[in-house]
Amino acid sequence: MNSRSALAWGQNKMFITFEGPEGCGKSTHSTRLKTYLEGRGERVLLTREPGGTQIGKNIRDLLLDPRSVLDRTTEVYLFAADRSEHVAKIILPALKEGKIVISDRFIDSTIAYQIGGRQLPEDLVRYLNMVSAKGLVPDLTILLDVPPQVGLKRAAQKGAVDRFEKEVLDFHGRVREKYLEIARENPDRIKMIDTEKTTIEDIQEQIRKIIDEKC
Ligand SMILES: Nc1ncnc2c1ncn2[C@@H]1O[C@H](COP(=O)(O)OP(=O)(O)O)[C@@H](O)[C@H]1O
Ligand SMILES: [Mg+2]
Repeated sequence: MNSRSALAWGQNKMFITFEGPEGCGKSTHSTRLKTYLEGRGERVLLTREPGGTQIGKNIRDLLLDPRSVLDRTTEVYLFAADRSEHVAKIILPALKEGKIVISDRFIDSTIAYQIGGRQLPEDLVRYLNMVSAKGLVPDLTILLDVPPQVGLKRAAQKGAVDRFEKEVLDFHGRVREKYLEIARENPDRIKMIDTEKTTIEDIQEQIRKIIDEKC
């Protein structure tokens, strides 16, 4: 199976993903970017992982419920199942309809959390990613970087803490490091923005500049 971005797959609209640790601003900025692009006359589908499909919503509940006790291998299979549904039923059909697709988390989350955080074997996780995404790779990934202490505090202020947010600081440090590593390895696709001391408005401005250059 080959890896291909949406543009390389013959679609004329981009597939954009937002990535980063807890509380970095993915939900905030993906929603604002959708509004911005719609203002430019684009048709945009905003979706997320886990939980972008009907079955995915059930999988999301299992994955995020702090009462779930999951073996780390079970966990990565659940993420892969969620993604298989999501790519087949939501992302690819929307790209075929000529929509820009924005996803709040995608394959890089699995690399950061399951290889970095959970320390699962790299080849297993990369293979599951490839199969579950059907080889689809984002055209552009915005990585919002934040130190774990800052991001977790922001996330906690938002409400109840989920199963990942309640993980130890070491886990979140490994997730962040893995994100930074894959950003260094994929400089064309992944654009990193430091969000620690930057306002939401400034960050959104930077995102719009990146988007304007790309599409
Ligand atoms: N740059 C920032 N500075 C201060 N607070 C922020 C910033 N970005 C996001 N927040 C706040 O942090 C919380 C988490 O943001 P959210 O977009 O839900 O993050 P994520 O989806 O990545 O977990 C929200 O209350 C949001 O308003
Ligand atoms: Mg969010």
